[in-house]
Amino acid sequence: MIHINEHYLKLQASYLFSDIARRVASFQEAHPDREVIKLGIGDVTQPLPPACIKAFHAAVDEMGSRDGFRGYGPEQGYAFLREAIAREDFLARGAVVASDEIFVSDGAKCDTGNIQELFGLDAKIAIPDPVYPVYLDTNVMAGRTGGFKDGRYEGIVYLDSTAANNYVPELPREPVDLIYLCFPNNPTGSTISKEQLRRWVDFAREHKALILFDAAYEAFIRDPALPHSIYEIEGAREVAVEFRSFSKSAGFTGTRCAYTVVPRDCMAYDRQGNRQPLHPLWNRRHCTKFNGVSYPVQRAAEAVYSPEGKAQCKELIDGYLANAALIAQAMRDLGYRFVGGDNAPYIWIDGRRDSWEFFDLLLDKAGVVCTPGAGFGKCGQGYIRISAFNSRENVVRAMERIRAALA
Ligand SMILES: Cc1ncc(COP(=O)(O)O)c(C=O)c1O
Repeated sequence: MIHINEHYLKLQASYLFSDIARRVASFQEAHPDREVIKLGIGDVTQPLPPACIKAFHAAVDEMGSRDGFRGYGPEQGYAFLREAIAREDFLARGAVVASDEIFVSDGAKCDTGNIQELFGLDAKIAIPDPVYPVYLDTNVMAGRTGGFKDGRYEGIVYLDSTAANNYVPELPREPVDLIYLCFPNNPTGSTISKEQLRRWVDFAREHKALILFDAAYEAFIRDPALPHSIYEIEGAREVAVEFRSFSKSAGFTGTRCAYTVVPRDCMAYDRQGNRQPLHPLWNRRHCTKFNGVSYPVQRAAEAVYSPEGKAQCKELIDGYLANAALIAQAMRDLGYRFVGGDNAPYIWIDGRRDSWEFFDLLLDKAGVVCTPGAGFGKCGQGYIRISAFNSRENVVRAMERIRAALA
Protein backbone atom coordinates (compact mmCIF):
# COMPACT_ATOMS: atom_id res chain seq x y z
CA MET A 1 0.00 0.00 0.00
CA ILE A 2 1.37 3.40 -0.94
CA HIS A 3 1.31 5.78 2.01
CA ILE A 4 1.34 9.52 1.77
CA ASN A 5 3.68 11.85 3.59
CA GLU A 6 1.28 12.62 6.42
CA HIS A 7 3.08 15.81 7.32
CA TYR A 8 1.25 17.32 4.34
CA LEU A 9 -1.99 16.81 6.24
CA LYS A 10 -0.80 19.24 8.92
CA LEU A 11 -0.60 22.09 6.41
CA GLN A 12 -3.23 24.76 6.85
CA ALA A 13 -5.00 25.39 3.58
CA SER A 14 -4.04 28.91 2.59
CA TYR A 15 -7.33 30.60 1.95
CA LEU A 16 -5.74 34.04 1.87
CA PHE A 17 -5.65 34.79 -1.84
CA SER A 18 -8.70 32.68 -2.68
CA ASP A 19 -10.67 34.44 0.07
CA ILE A 20 -9.56 37.78 -1.30
CA ALA A 21 -10.56 36.77 -4.83
CA ARG A 22 -13.96 35.56 -3.59
CA ARG A 23 -14.69 38.79 -1.73
CA VAL A 24 -13.57 40.90 -4.70
CA ALA A 25 -15.71 38.85 -7.09
CA SER A 26 -18.83 39.21 -4.96
CA PHE A 27 -18.19 42.95 -4.57
CA GLN A 28 -17.90 43.32 -8.33
CA GLU A 29 -21.06 41.35 -8.86
CA ALA A 30 -22.94 43.61 -6.47
CA HIS A 31 -21.39 46.80 -7.92
CA PRO A 32 -20.74 46.18 -11.62
CA ASP A 33 -20.32 49.92 -12.21
CA ARG A 34 -17.48 50.33 -9.67
CA GLU A 35 -13.90 49.77 -10.76
CA VAL A 36 -11.64 47.92 -8.31
CA ILE A 37 -7.95 48.83 -7.93
CA LYS A 38 -5.75 45.94 -6.79
CA LEU A 39 -2.91 46.74 -4.42
CA GLY A 40 -2.89 43.30 -2.88
CA ILE A 41 -0.63 40.86 -4.66
CA GLY A 42 3.15 41.12 -4.61
CA ASP A 43 3.60 40.78 -8.35
CA VAL A 44 5.25 43.40 -10.52
CA THR A 45 3.20 45.22 -13.14
CA GLN A 46 5.71 47.03 -15.38
CA PRO A 47 7.31 45.42 -18.47
CA LEU A 48 10.86 44.06 -18.58
CA PRO A 49 13.66 46.63 -18.99
CA PRO A 50 14.55 47.19 -22.69
CA ALA A 51 18.19 46.09 -22.09
CA CYS A 52 16.94 42.71 -20.86
CA ILE A 53 14.55 42.33 -23.80
CA LYS A 54 17.35 43.12 -26.26
CA ALA A 55 19.67 40.50 -24.71
CA PHE A 56 16.78 38.03 -24.48
CA HIS A 57 15.99 38.43 -28.22
CA ALA A 58 19.65 38.16 -29.24
CA ALA A 59 20.04 34.95 -27.22
CA VAL A 60 16.89 33.45 -28.74
CA ASP A 61 18.34 34.18 -32.20
CA GLU A 62 21.61 32.50 -31.18
CA MET A 63 19.64 29.41 -30.20
CA GLY A 64 18.26 29.33 -33.75
CA SER A 65 21.68 29.28 -35.39
CA ARG A 66 23.96 26.28 -35.87
CA ASP A 67 26.91 28.01 -34.22
CA GLY A 68 25.01 29.70 -31.42
CA PHE A 69 22.78 26.82 -30.38
CA ARG A 70 23.23 25.52 -26.81
CA GLY A 71 21.81 22.45 -25.14
CA TYR A 72 22.12 21.75 -21.43
CA GLY A 73 24.14 24.44 -19.71
CA PRO A 74 25.98 24.20 -16.40
CA GLU A 75 23.39 23.44 -13.67
CA GLN A 76 24.85 26.17 -11.48
CA GLY A 77 24.48 28.81 -14.19
CA TYR A 78 26.68 30.18 -16.96
CA ALA A 79 29.96 31.79 -15.90
CA PHE A 80 29.00 35.07 -17.64
CA LEU A 81 26.08 35.53 -15.24
CA ARG A 82 27.73 34.19 -12.08
CA GLU A 83 30.75 36.44 -12.64
CA ALA A 84 28.56 39.50 -13.24
CA ILE A 85 26.61 38.76 -10.03
CA ALA A 86 29.75 38.29 -7.91
CA ARG A 87 31.29 41.49 -9.24
CA GLU A 88 28.24 43.78 -9.20
CA ASP A 89 26.09 42.55 -6.32
CA PHE A 90 28.85 41.70 -3.86
CA LEU A 91 32.43 42.80 -4.61
CA ALA A 92 31.20 46.29 -5.59
CA ARG A 93 29.74 46.55 -2.05
CA GLY A 94 32.79 45.19 -0.29
CA ALA A 95 31.24 41.76 0.31
CA VAL A 96 33.47 38.84 -0.63
CA VAL A 97 31.56 36.30 -2.73
CA ALA A 98 33.20 34.23 -5.48
CA SER A 99 31.35 33.40 -8.68
CA ASP A 100 31.52 29.66 -7.93
CA GLU A 101 29.65 30.28 -4.67
CA ILE A 102 26.64 31.46 -6.68
CA PHE A 103 23.96 29.01 -7.81
CA VAL A 104 21.64 30.40 -10.49
CA SER A 105 18.09 29.06 -10.29
CA ASP A 106 14.56 29.67 -11.51
CA GLY A 107 13.35 31.29 -8.31
CA ALA A 108 13.99 32.29 -4.73
CA LYS A 109 10.72 30.55 -3.88
CA CYS A 110 12.15 27.16 -4.91
CA ASP A 111 15.52 27.84 -3.31
CA THR A 112 14.15 29.06 0.03
CA GLY A 113 11.78 26.08 -0.05
CA ASN A 114 14.35 23.46 -1.07
CA ILE A 115 17.29 24.44 1.13
CA GLN A 116 15.77 22.87 4.23
CA GLU A 117 16.39 19.35 2.89
CA LEU A 118 20.07 19.80 3.66
CA PHE A 119 19.39 19.81 7.39
CA GLY A 120 18.48 17.25 10.03
CA LEU A 121 14.83 16.65 10.75
CA ASP A 122 15.41 17.52 14.39
CA ALA A 123 16.78 20.99 13.58
CA LYS A 124 15.20 23.66 15.74
CA ILE A 125 13.80 26.26 13.39
CA ALA A 126 13.23 29.96 14.06
CA ILE A 127 10.79 31.66 11.70
CA PRO A 128 9.51 35.24 11.76
CA ASP A 129 5.84 36.08 12.29
CA PRO A 130 4.42 37.58 10.08
CA VAL A 131 6.22 35.72 7.30
CA TYR A 132 6.47 34.80 3.63
CA PRO A 133 4.72 31.40 4.04
CA VAL A 134 7.21 29.27 2.06
CA TYR A 135 9.73 28.97 4.92
CA LEU A 136 7.14 27.62 7.30
CA ASP A 137 5.20 25.34 4.96
CA THR A 138 8.28 23.60 3.57
CA ASN A 139 9.43 22.72 7.08
CA VAL A 140 5.95 21.44 7.90
CA MET A 141 6.06 19.24 4.77
CA ALA A 142 9.44 17.88 5.83
CA GLY A 143 8.13 16.93 9.27
CA ARG A 144 10.00 19.43 11.41
CA THR A 145 6.87 20.59 13.23
CA GLY A 146 4.05 19.21 15.28
CA GLY A 147 0.42 20.00 14.59
CA PHE A 148 -1.24 23.39 14.15
CA LYS A 149 -2.65 24.73 17.43
CA ASP A 150 -4.00 28.19 18.24
CA GLY A 151 -2.71 29.67 15.01
CA ARG A 152 0.81 28.23 15.21
CA TYR A 153 2.72 25.03 14.49
CA GLU A 154 4.15 23.23 17.48
CA GLY A 155 7.91 22.94 17.59
CA ILE A 156 8.65 26.18 15.72
CA VAL A 157 10.32 29.09 17.49
CA TYR A 158 8.35 32.07 16.22
CA LEU A 159 10.16 35.38 15.94
CA ASP A 160 7.52 38.03 16.59
CA SER A 161 7.83 41.16 14.47
CA THR A 162 5.68 43.80 16.12
CA ALA A 163 5.50 47.54 16.72
CA ALA A 164 7.34 46.92 20.03
CA ASN A 165 10.52 45.81 18.18
CA ASN A 166 9.93 47.98 15.12
CA TYR A 167 9.24 44.81 13.11
CA VAL A 168 12.78 43.44 13.54
CA PRO A 169 12.58 40.34 15.76
CA GLU A 170 14.58 39.96 18.95
CA LEU A 171 17.15 37.17 19.22
CA PRO A 172 15.54 33.93 20.45
CA ARG A 173 15.83 33.28 24.18
CA GLU A 174 16.74 29.65 23.50
CA PRO A 175 19.38 28.20 21.15
CA VAL A 176 18.06 27.42 17.66
CA ASP A 177 19.73 25.73 14.68
CA LEU A 178 18.19 27.34 11.61
CA ILE A 179 17.03 30.95 11.37
CA TYR A 180 15.04 32.49 8.54
CA LEU A 181 15.41 36.25 8.08
CA CYS A 182 14.04 38.40 5.25
CA PHE A 183 15.03 42.05 4.77
CA PRO A 184 13.66 44.27 3.32
CA ASN A 185 10.74 42.29 4.65
CA ASN A 186 7.71 40.79 3.01
CA PRO A 187 5.05 41.49 4.28
CA THR A 188 6.07 44.33 6.64
CA GLY A 189 8.46 46.31 4.43
CA SER A 190 10.74 46.75 7.48
CA THR A 191 14.52 46.84 7.14
CA ILE A 192 17.42 45.74 9.34
CA SER A 193 20.44 47.84 10.28
CA LYS A 194 24.02 46.54 10.08
CA GLU A 195 24.21 46.57 13.87
CA GLN A 196 21.04 44.49 14.23
CA LEU A 197 22.17 42.06 11.55
CA ARG A 198 25.56 41.75 13.25
CA ARG A 199 23.80 40.58 16.42
CA TRP A 200 22.12 37.79 14.43
CA VAL A 201 25.41 36.77 12.86
CA ASP A 202 27.09 36.70 16.28
CA PHE A 203 24.19 34.65 17.68
CA ALA A 204 24.51 32.13 14.84
CA ARG A 205 28.26 31.85 15.38
CA GLU A 206 27.83 31.37 19.11
CA HIS A 207 25.20 28.62 18.69
CA LYS A 208 26.65 26.96 15.56
CA ALA A 209 23.40 27.89 13.85
CA LEU A 210 22.75 28.87 10.25
CA ILE A 211 20.96 31.97 8.94
CA LEU A 212 18.93 31.75 5.73
CA PHE A 213 18.85 35.37 4.58
CA ASP A 214 16.22 36.21 1.97
CA ALA A 215 17.20 39.43 0.23
CA ALA A 216 14.64 39.22 -2.61
CA TYR A 217 13.79 42.93 -2.09
CA GLU A 218 17.38 44.18 -1.78
CA ALA A 219 17.06 46.40 -4.87
CA PHE A 220 14.53 48.60 -3.07
CA ILE A 221 17.06 49.75 -0.47
CA ARG A 222 17.79 53.45 -0.87
CA ASP A 223 19.14 54.28 2.60
CA PRO A 224 22.94 54.06 2.18
CA ALA A 225 23.39 52.90 5.78
CA LEU A 226 21.38 49.70 5.31
CA PRO A 227 23.09 46.40 4.40
CA HIS A 228 22.17 44.95 1.00
CA SER A 229 23.80 41.61 1.74
CA ILE A 230 24.41 39.67 4.95
CA TYR A 231 27.99 39.21 3.72
CA GLU A 232 28.59 42.89 4.48
CA ILE A 233 28.72 41.67 8.10
CA GLU A 234 32.01 40.23 9.32
CA GLY A 235 31.88 36.50 9.94
CA ALA A 236 28.63 35.98 8.01
CA ARG A 237 30.22 33.79 5.34
CA GLU A 238 30.55 30.96 7.86
CA VAL A 239 26.96 31.09 9.11
CA ALA A 240 24.73 32.43 6.32
CA VAL A 241 23.21 31.45 3.00
CA GLU A 242 21.70 34.32 0.98
CA PHE A 243 18.85 34.25 -1.53
CA ARG A 244 18.36 36.83 -4.26
CA SER A 245 15.96 37.13 -7.15
CA PHE A 246 15.58 39.08 -10.38
CA SER A 247 11.79 38.92 -9.87
CA LYS A 248 11.37 42.23 -8.12
CA SER A 249 14.68 43.89 -9.05
CA ALA A 250 14.13 43.58 -12.81
CA GLY A 251 10.52 42.46 -13.26
CA PHE A 252 11.39 38.76 -13.81
CA THR A 253 8.40 37.25 -11.96
CA GLY A 254 7.17 35.72 -15.20
CA THR A 255 10.63 35.20 -16.73
CA ARG A 256 12.13 33.31 -13.73
CA CYS A 257 15.69 33.84 -12.62
CA ALA A 258 17.19 34.00 -9.14
CA TYR A 259 20.27 32.84 -7.29
CA THR A 260 21.50 31.47 -3.98
CA VAL A 261 24.88 32.15 -2.42
CA VAL A 262 26.50 29.34 -0.45
CA PRO A 263 29.98 30.47 0.61
CA ARG A 264 32.66 27.78 0.67
CA ASP A 265 33.32 28.42 4.36
CA CYS A 266 29.64 28.11 5.33
CA MET A 267 29.29 25.16 7.71
CA ALA A 268 26.82 22.82 9.33
CA TYR A 269 27.62 19.78 11.50
CA ASP A 270 27.31 16.01 11.34
CA ARG A 271 26.16 13.85 14.29
CA GLN A 272 29.77 13.55 15.50
CA GLY A 273 30.01 17.34 15.61
CA ASN A 274 32.38 17.58 12.64
CA ARG A 275 32.14 20.67 10.47
CA GLN A 276 30.59 19.91 7.11
CA PRO A 277 30.72 22.51 4.35
CA LEU A 278 27.31 23.24 2.83
CA HIS A 279 28.63 24.19 -0.60
CA PRO A 280 29.17 20.59 -1.83
CA LEU A 281 25.81 19.52 -0.40
CA TRP A 282 23.87 22.29 -2.13
CA ASN A 283 25.88 21.71 -5.29
CA ARG A 284 24.93 18.04 -5.17
CA ARG A 285 21.25 18.79 -4.59
CA HIS A 286 21.19 21.43 -7.31
CA CYS A 287 22.88 19.20 -9.90
CA THR A 288 20.75 16.17 -9.00
CA LYS A 289 17.40 17.91 -9.04
CA PHE A 290 17.80 20.93 -11.31
CA ASN A 291 18.94 21.30 -14.90
CA GLY A 292 19.70 24.98 -15.18
CA VAL A 293 17.93 28.17 -16.19
CA SER A 294 17.46 28.65 -19.93
CA TYR A 295 20.26 30.38 -21.80
CA PRO A 296 18.17 33.33 -23.08
CA VAL A 297 16.87 34.02 -19.55
CA GLN A 298 20.42 34.03 -18.17
CA ARG A 299 21.49 36.46 -20.92
CA ALA A 300 18.50 38.67 -20.04
CA ALA A 301 19.56 38.56 -16.37
CA GLU A 302 23.16 39.40 -17.29
CA ALA A 303 21.86 42.52 -19.05
CA VAL A 304 20.59 43.81 -15.67
CA TYR A 305 24.26 44.59 -14.91
CA SER A 306 24.99 46.52 -18.12
CA PRO A 307 25.06 50.33 -17.78
CA GLU A 308 21.69 50.62 -19.56
CA GLY A 309 20.25 47.71 -17.60
CA LYS A 310 21.30 49.26 -14.29
CA ALA A 311 19.74 52.61 -15.19
CA GLN A 312 16.51 50.99 -16.42
CA CYS A 313 16.14 48.77 -13.34
CA LYS A 314 16.74 51.76 -11.09
CA GLU A 315 14.04 53.68 -12.92
CA LEU A 316 11.66 50.74 -12.60
CA ILE A 317 12.18 50.48 -8.86
CA ASP A 318 12.17 54.25 -8.36
CA GLY A 319 8.68 54.17 -9.91
CA TYR A 320 7.45 51.57 -7.42
CA LEU A 321 9.11 53.45 -4.55
CA ALA A 322 7.39 56.66 -5.65
CA ASN A 323 4.09 54.74 -5.45
CA ALA A 324 5.06 53.48 -1.99
CA ALA A 325 5.76 57.07 -0.90
CA LEU A 326 2.26 58.13 -2.04
CA ILE A 327 0.69 55.30 -0.06
CA ALA A 328 2.79 56.12 3.02
CA GLN A 329 1.86 59.81 2.81
CA ALA A 330 -1.84 59.00 2.59
CA MET A 331 -1.61 56.74 5.66
CA ARG A 332 0.40 59.35 7.57
CA ASP A 333 -2.18 62.05 6.74
CA LEU A 334 -4.98 59.76 7.84
CA GLY A 335 -3.23 59.15 11.17
CA TYR A 336 -2.44 55.46 10.76
CA ARG A 337 0.72 53.89 12.14
CA PHE A 338 2.68 51.98 9.51
CA VAL A 339 6.12 50.66 8.61
CA GLY A 340 7.81 50.10 5.25
CA GLY A 341 7.45 51.85 1.93
CA ASP A 342 10.77 53.74 1.99
CA ASN A 343 13.17 50.87 1.25
CA ALA A 344 10.58 48.29 0.27
CA PRO A 345 7.53 47.97 -1.99
CA TYR A 346 5.21 47.09 0.92
CA ILE A 347 3.47 49.26 3.50
CA TRP A 348 2.32 47.47 6.65
CA ILE A 349 -0.49 49.37 8.31
CA ASP A 350 -1.90 49.00 11.81
CA GLY A 351 -5.62 49.11 10.97
CA ARG A 352 -6.67 49.36 14.63
CA ARG A 353 -9.25 46.65 13.94
CA ASP A 354 -9.49 43.11 12.59
CA SER A 355 -7.46 42.63 9.38
CA TRP A 356 -10.43 41.33 7.37
CA GLU A 357 -12.70 44.05 8.69
CA PHE A 358 -10.25 46.66 7.40
CA PHE A 359 -9.91 44.76 4.11
CA ASP A 360 -13.71 44.83 3.67
CA LEU A 361 -13.89 48.50 4.58
CA LEU A 362 -11.32 49.46 1.92
CA LEU A 363 -13.04 47.29 -0.65
CA ASP A 364 -16.58 48.49 0.10
CA LYS A 365 -15.87 52.17 0.61
CA ALA A 366 -12.87 52.74 -1.68
CA GLY A 367 -12.93 49.86 -4.16
CA VAL A 368 -9.29 49.12 -3.26
CA VAL A 369 -7.92 45.62 -2.64
CA CYS A 370 -5.19 45.15 -0.03
CA THR A 371 -3.92 42.00 1.75
CA PRO A 372 -5.14 41.24 5.29
CA GLY A 373 -2.12 40.89 7.56
CA ALA A 374 -3.66 37.97 9.45
CA GLY A 375 -2.89 35.81 6.39
CA PHE A 376 0.85 36.12 7.12
CA GLY A 377 0.76 34.89 10.73
CA LYS A 378 -0.61 35.55 14.17
CA CYS A 379 1.31 38.81 14.58
CA GLY A 380 -0.26 40.07 11.35
CA GLN A 381 -3.71 40.25 12.91
CA GLY A 382 -4.92 43.84 12.96
CA TYR A 383 -2.70 44.84 10.05
CA ILE A 384 -3.07 45.13 6.30
CA ARG A 385 -0.37 45.12 3.62
CA ILE A 386 -0.63 47.56 0.73
CA SER A 387 1.65 46.86 -2.21
CA ALA A 388 3.22 49.53 -4.41
CA PHE A 389 3.22 47.22 -7.45
CA ASN A 390 0.83 49.01 -9.77
CA SER A 391 0.86 51.98 -12.15
CA ARG A 392 1.31 55.49 -10.78
CA GLU A 393 -2.18 56.47 -11.99
CA ASN A 394 -3.84 53.58 -10.21
CA VAL A 395 -1.99 54.28 -6.96
CA VAL A 396 -2.91 57.99 -7.13
CA ARG A 397 -6.56 57.13 -7.70
CA ALA A 398 -6.55 54.44 -5.02
CA MET A 399 -5.13 56.88 -2.45
CA GLU A 400 -7.68 59.57 -3.38
CA ARG A 401 -10.42 57.04 -2.78
CA ILE A 402 -8.91 55.80 0.49
CA ARG A 403 -8.51 59.38 1.75
CA ALA A 404 -12.17 60.08 0.96
CA ALA A 405 -13.33 56.80 2.52
CA LEU A 406 -11.36 57.05 5.76
CA ALA A 407 -11.32 60.81 6.35
C1 LIG B 1 10.37 37.22 0.53
C2 LIG B 1 10.26 36.58 -0.80
N1 LIG B 1 11.17 35.66 -1.16
C3 LIG B 1 11.10 35.04 -2.35
C4 LIG B 1 10.07 35.33 -3.24
C5 LIG B 1 9.97 34.56 -4.52
O1 LIG B 1 10.82 35.01 -5.48
P1 LIG B 1 10.92 34.28 -6.91
O2 LIG B 1 9.98 34.98 -7.82
O3 LIG B 1 12.36 34.46 -7.28
O4 LIG B 1 10.58 32.84 -6.73
C6 LIG B 1 9.12 36.29 -2.92
C7 LIG B 1 8.02 36.59 -3.87
O5 LIG B 1 7.06 37.24 -3.60
C8 LIG B 1 9.20 36.92 -1.66
O6 LIG B 1 8.29 37.82 -1.29
